[in-house]
Amino acid sequence: MRIDVVSIFPEYLAALDLSLIGKARLQGLLELSVEDLRRYTTDRHRTVDDTPYGGGAGMVMKPEPWALALEDVLERGAAAPGPAAPGAGTPPGERPVLVVPSPAGEVFTQAVARELAEREHLVFACGRYEGIDERVVDWARERFEVRPMSLGDYVLNGGEVAVLAMVEAIGRLVPGVIGNPESLVEESHSDGLLEYPVYTKPALWRDRPVPEVLLSGHHGRIARWRRDLQLRRTAARRPDLVAALDPAALDRADRAVLAEAGWTVAGDRVLRAGPDAPAGPVA
Ligand SMILES: C[S@@+](CC[C@H](N)C(=O)[O-])C[C@H]1O[C@@H](n2cnc3c(N)ncnc32)[C@H](O)[C@@H]1O
Repeated sequence: MRIDVVSIFPEYLAALDLSLIGKARLQGLLELSVEDLRRYTTDRHRTVDDTPYGGGAGMVMKPEPWALALEDVLERGAAAPGPAAPGAGTPPGERPVLVVPSPAGEVFTQAVARELAEREHLVFACGRYEGIDERVVDWARERFEVRPMSLGDYVLNGGEVAVLAMVEAIGRLVPGVIGNPESLVEESHSDGLLEYPVYTKPALWRDRPVPEVLLSGHHGRIARWRRDLQLRRTAARRPDLVAALDPAALDRADRAVLAEAGWTVAGDRVLRAGPDAPAGPVA
C-alpha cells in the first residue's frame, strides 16, 4: 500500500517511523511519504492561507498550493510500480482515495479502516486554520475518490493527529503488518461489540484475583464468559452498538445477557426493553 500525507507540519508525522507502522515501512509493506505543503507555494513568504470570503474569524487554506501538491502526489503514484511489485502504486482504473480530515466529515470507524486497508493508494490532506478552500474538494473529485473523514465529534487544531490515528488503524489491517493476524479477529469493533476485559500474570495482584474462569482451562466456559462480558460492556458503554446488532448473530445465551442489561429482540431489531418496546421473544 502507498500512503501520501500532505501537511504544513511534516514533522508531526514522525511518529509513523515508530513501532509496527515504522517496521512495516522498513519491510516495504507500507510505502509512506510526507510532503510539506509549503513546498508548493510560489511567494517569498510561502503563504498557504488567506482571509475568508464573506468575512468571519480565522484563515482559510489557499487552493493552489493544494492543487500543485496533489498533482505531484498523483504523478508520483502513477509512476510507482504496480501492486504486484514491491512498493505498490495505483492499479490502472482505480483512482486513489483522498482522505480529507474534517470535523464535518463522515465518522472514521473500524469498518471504514477495513475498507481503506483494501486500497492501493491513500492520500491524506491535513487541513489547518478554518480548513481548506472547498473548491479543492470539488476539483479533487475529478482525480480522486474523495472521503472527508472525522475522527469524532470534537474539533482539533489540524488534520495531523487525525491522520496519525487513521494511518495506524488502516495500516495495522494490511496483511503482514501485525505478526499474528488472530489478534485482529477478537478486537473491539471486529464483530460490532467491544472487547472483553483482559488480564495477565500474576493471578493475584494487590488483593485482586483474576476471574476464576480464566484459570479453569475450560475453553468453552472461557469463550462464553468473554462473550457475556463483551455484551454487558457494550450495553453499558455503547448502547448505539447494541441497537445496531444483527439478531441473527445472537444466540440464546447472548439474548439472555442482553435481556439482563435491558434489551430485547423484536423481529430483526434489538431494542431497549421497556413499556414502549414492542413485545418480542428475548431468548
Ligand atoms: C480548527 S479545524 C477547522 C474546523 C472547521 N472550521 C469546522 O468547524 O468544521 C482545522 C483542521 O483540523 C482538522 N480537524 C479538526 N477536527 C477534526 C476531527 N474531528 N476529525 C478530523 N480532522 C479534524 C481538519 O483537518 C480541519 O481542517
